[in-house]
Amino acid sequence: MVRPMAERKPLIVGNWKMFHGGASGCELAVELRRSLADIDKVDLVVAPPFTALAAVAHELDGSRIQVAAQNTHFEASGAYTGEVSCQMLLESGCSWTLVGHSERRQHFSDTDESVGLKVKSALAAGLLPIACVGETLEQREAGTTLDVVHRQVDAIIDAIGESSAEPGLTTIAYEPIWAIGTGKVAGPEQAQEVHAAIRARLARDSTQLSEITRILYGGSVKPGNSASLMACTDIDGALVGGASLNAESFANIARSSG
Ligand code: PGA
Repeated sequence: MVRPMAERKPLIVGNWKMFHGGASGCELAVELRRSLADIDKVDLVVAPPFTALAAVAHELDGSRIQVAAQNTHFEASGAYTGEVSCQMLLESGCSWTLVGHSERRQHFSDTDESVGLKVKSALAAGLLPIACVGETLEQREAGTTLDVVHRQVDAIIDAIGESSAEPGLTTIAYEPIWAIGTGKVAGPEQAQEVHAAIRARLARDSTQLSEITRILYGGSVKPGNSASLMACTDIDGALVGGASLNAESFANIARSSG
């Protein structure tokens, strides 16, 4: 696969959502460690629930699989019952965090503004943010996909600009909401169109930022469709939900992405 300028190493992220806490999370980590041992052409990350982070990070210690949180708070500490800060995630063995997943935007009031604050806070703490964007089915049918995605991406670009972090540390994940957990994957051309638009938007800010930022696709990625998505010029990896809960299917997706 020819990639322009700076090499963007493929990145495959498993989002476990609210599955596999504690003991079963550790079991899955042990299986992943075994199944993914021979994969070195892609970066690998798993995002277990908060309660399993430290134990999973411990199981994966010394492997090539890194650990992400599924969310973070933007303040370093304070009276925020139920929330977890970037520093706390780092202490739990995380080096990445998802930010603004559509399920957080939809059910837990994440907004472009809070997503921007979380990206800034993660970068300041030394945690690598994977910021999610994507349109609903209604927005796609109304022809407003690119307007929606541009607005979401602009908030992320502003946050990167306001941070003093070097460019390229933030990953963007394009996840059309209608494709998440539905089995309806975006076709490679459909996905590539939005990925190219996101990269063009990044280029308005900085050519370097657009060349080195990894843009992942997410939404019903499976071993059977991952290779055709990953072959697209502007798709640099995948954010995988359901298919990341099984070590073999996650490994097959990773294998088809290198
Ligand atoms: P899915 O989820 O792969 O189960 O569609 C993707 C995600 O929500 O990150």
